[in-house]
Amino acid sequence: MPTRTIAVCQSCGAQSPRWVGRCTTCGEWGSVVEEPVERGAPVASVAAPTATLAEHDPSDADRVPTGLPEVDLVLGGGLVRGSVVLLAGEPGIGKSTIALQVALRVGHDCGVLLVCGEEAPQQIRARAERLGPIPSGVRTLADPSLPGVLAAVASGEAAIVVVDSIQTVFDPELPSAPGSVTQVRECGARLARAARENGVTVILVGHVTKEGTVAGPRVLEHLVDVVVSFDGDRSGTVRMLRPLKNRFGPTDEVGFFEMATEGLVPIRDASAFLLADRCPGLPGSALAALVEGRRPFVSEIQALVQPSGVSVPRRNALGTDAARLSVLAAVLDRRAGVKLADHEVFVSAPGGLQASEPAADLAIALALMSAYRDVPVPEGLVAFGEVGLAGEIRRVVASDRRLAEAQTVGCTHALVPAGLEADVDGIELVRVRHVAEVLDVLEPSTAVRVLRS
Ligand SMILES: Nc1ncnc2c1ncn2[C@@H]1O[C@H](COP(=O)(O)OP(=O)(O)OP(=O)(O)O)[C@@H](O)[C@H]1O
Ligand SMILES: [Mg+2]
Repeated sequence: MPTRTIAVCQSCGAQSPRWVGRCTTCGEWGSVVEEPVERGAPVASVAAPTATLAEHDPSDADRVPTGLPEVDLVLGGGLVRGSVVLLAGEPGIGKSTIALQVALRVGHDCGVLLVCGEEAPQQIRARAERLGPIPSGVRTLADPSLPGVLAAVASGEAAIVVVDSIQTVFDPELPSAPGSVTQVRECGARLARAARENGVTVILVGHVTKEGTVAGPRVLEHLVDVVVSFDGDRSGTVRMLRPLKNRFGPTDEVGFFEMATEGLVPIRDASAFLLADRCPGLPGSALAALVEGRRPFVSEIQALVQPSGVSVPRRNALGTDAARLSVLAAVLDRRAGVKLADHEVFVSAPGGLQASEPAADLAIALALMSAYRDVPVPEGLVAFGEVGLAGEIRRVVASDRRLAEAQTVGCTHALVPAGLEADVDGIELVRVRHVAEVLDVLEPSTAVRVLRS
């Protein structure tokens, strides 16, 4: 009898009875492959025991601290026993490094198993030497086949199992290749079940592209308890660890790290890190008070405005939102008389942290106006607020946290939306209702008044 097959999109996981050249769900060309359908013998239904909700002990969700405070913060206090954490990120971003750092710290207190799918144990050993002392509690498993990994989880030797990566784990009973949607989904589901049944924490490392389209992590998200994304600009050294989903804690804590030779080093004071190389007093530079998750930080925004001879001048955004920059340039041109329509506009948030939230608009507008007029922004002035299409300045969340952070880096004045009701000691508010009013801040006479008020 011919084997029954089903067509599965390797990009989004959608299934269809027949092969098609283009996935009807995600629109990807050439991503659909036929996979055999294998069904086990029907199982007789047996009533499973139930329990009242009240009789379960909430303290059962006990946590193992990772020894890296920034990682614990992101996880909501540590790794929960019997849970599955998906660590997702682009290739080369540093997933293996941070997973190994956690293993080396936790390995002092409990057993850790590293399932080496991507790299040979020797390679991992070489990296571990760079990262710190190697505790005897860390063991390796070189073969990433699913039965072996499941047996290791069930053996109880390790409290934490790190699988690097889930795309390399394969179930030999499934005909599709390692990394295919079917393999990743099946292996992920069985590892998750084994983790819960044995009270072992499983960390799955998974690759995603910028668009998140590569087979794997997307289909795992609902199976796992925690999804942590690890991202940043690969050409720079700053990395961000952020929870996208957490069944045991909040998802608004973010960890900042710097990639160094000795591994990922937490950046405790992000503002100081970002402002370290700043040259104050130059035209085209403004300070923005931003938040990432719950963490406030002050970032420099730099702008360069250059007359252009072409009909559609360039708008170039580095570390800020490109679409917002185009809109902002048009708003400044139309609503504030800053004639950017015939100028090339470049905006950058140097340092490696993204300044893409709408609250950065006001500081970007200030930097653009400062560059356009070739007049520096008064020293000690920070800005935050969203700029609407009519040029109105809108309030944003977490104003108190932004102001408090700005004060810690020495800001004395803050350019804020007129409607803001906030009061932070040591920082004077300069309220603006419309983007045209921002130009006044750059008038030498006003600047003096602003800073002396
Ligand atoms: N000897 C070294 N000294 C300093 N940094 C290093 C060294 N070796 C590697 N790195 C850094 O570590 C990064 C790779 O980290 P890692 O292998 O943890 O990433 P990954 O996300 O696991 O990658 P992959 O997708 O290949 O598995 C490199 O981009 C490099 O910046
Ligand atoms: Mg890796």
